[in-house]
Amino acid sequence: MTTKEQWAQLQVAAEEIMTKAYAPYSRFKVGVAGLMDDDRIVVGCNVENAAYGVGLCAECGMISSIHATGGGKLVAITCVDQHGSSLMPCGRCRQLLWENGKPTTQITTPEGIKTLSEILPQAFGPEDLAARAEDQLQMDQS
Ligand code: THU
Repeated sequence: MTTKEQWAQLQVAAEEIMTKAYAPYSRFKVGVAGLMDDDRIVVGCNVENAAYGVGLCAECGMISSIHATGGGKLVAITCVDQHGSSLMPCGRCRQLLWENGKPTTQITTPEGIKTLSEILPQAFGPEDLAARAEDQLQMDQS
C-alpha cells in the first residue's frame, strides 16, 4: 500500500527530474518517478535527439536506472508533463513498465490511481515466451 506521503514524494521527484529533460525539438518535458519494492525512488526524464526517431522517453531512463541501481520491481509510478500534471505513458513505455513492475503496480493517471493491468490489459510478457518455449524447441529441431 503506497502511502499519501510516498505519492507526494513521487510527485516531487517526477517534477524535479522533469526540469532536467532535454526536449529542444518537441519542447515537451516529461519526468517520471518510481517507487521500488525496496522503497528506493528511481527517476527518469526524456532525452531527445537531432535524429528525432531515436529520442528516449522519460520511462526509458528510469528503467535503465532501476537496473543500474540494483533492480527490483516497481510498486508505484508517477509520470508528469511540464506543468506537473499526470501524464499517461506511451504504449511502448507501458510495455517497459509492465516488465519492471507487477500487474498490481499503481500509477497516477488523469482519472486517478490505476494499476498496470488496467492501463495495459492482456499484456504480453515473459511468461508468454516461456509458455511457448516448447514450440520453439520443436521448430529448432525440425
Ligand atoms: N514522452 C515521454 O518521455 N514519455 C511518454 O510516455 C510519452 C512521450 C516524450 C517523448 C518526447 O520527447 C516527448 O515526450 C514528446 O512526445
